[in-house]
Amino acid sequence: MSKTYLEAAVEIAREAGKVLREELERPADIAYKGDFDLVTQADRRSEAVIVGRLQKYFPEHSVAAEEGTGKDTGSDYRWHVDPLDGTTNFAHRYPCFCVSMALARKNELLLGVIYNPVYDELFCAARGEGATFNGKRIHCSKIDAMKNSLLCTGFPNHDRSSHPNIHYYWDFTLKSHGVRRDGSAALDLAAVAMGRFDGFWEFGLKPWDTAAGVVLVEEAGGTISDLDGNPYVIGGKSILASNGLIHEEMKRLAAEVAQD
Ligand code: IPD
Ligand code: CA
Ligand code: CA
Repeated sequence: MSKTYLEAAVEIAREAGKVLREELERPADIAYKGDFDLVTQADRRSEAVIVGRLQKYFPEHSVAAEEGTGKDTGSDYRWHVDPLDGTTNFAHRYPCFCVSMALARKNELLLGVIYNPVYDELFCAARGEGATFNGKRIHCSKIDAMKNSLLCTGFPNHDRSSHPNIHYYWDFTLKSHGVRRDGSAALDLAAVAMGRFDGFWEFGLKPWDTAAGVVLVEEAGGTISDLDGNPYVIGGKSILASNGLIHEEMKRLAAEVAQD
């Protein structure tokens, strides 16, 4: 069954990706949802394609989409949709953005699809069936010490001046090969799943930012929790994703930073 859903998700993500590529050729049309929280015509057009197609294929399913055009039908099945993850990058023509879609049944995530249309990079995972990158099976890295790892994090678009993540950023930077800040949480998680990054953490992400990436990391053999080490709940206050081997070390360092 999940195969059919996965095929549909891939088709739809590619279609939405086409819209993003088209929009990339036009002057950016930027509006603001908050002081630094951008939204563009590309976010809206991509969401229209995704929500329209999901409603056509699976009219009984609920859709939770970032720009608010989804619908809660009361179904056990819910799609989590980020029509453009990395809007700030998109608006500045920095080619690190994607479409992110996941399907959950009640609280169980069944599948995730993440698509970067600039590089034509497609990440897919279905529960129990593994994770793939452009059709080839992927696994998390084998780096087993944080001092040899490349990490990634992100900063929110709101309450930026008071956000504690800068302290975590500093400590993790000193204890690893470095911490990247790429601006697309979904692609950051996909990068952990394929071993480009060994670990990732962030605060305050929404379900549509993380749902697909969580399935990818887990199906690629990695570990997901919150930053305190508790089970991660999508939309929870923090997320820690890693290859599993450096998870304890990352958790310990996060606890030290939280104490200071
Ligand atoms: C943002 C990106 C970014 C993360 C922000 C998210 P958006 O999503 O995932 O990496 O740091 O917290 O809001 O707004 O580009 O869809
Ligand atoms: Ca997002
Ligand atoms: Ca978005």
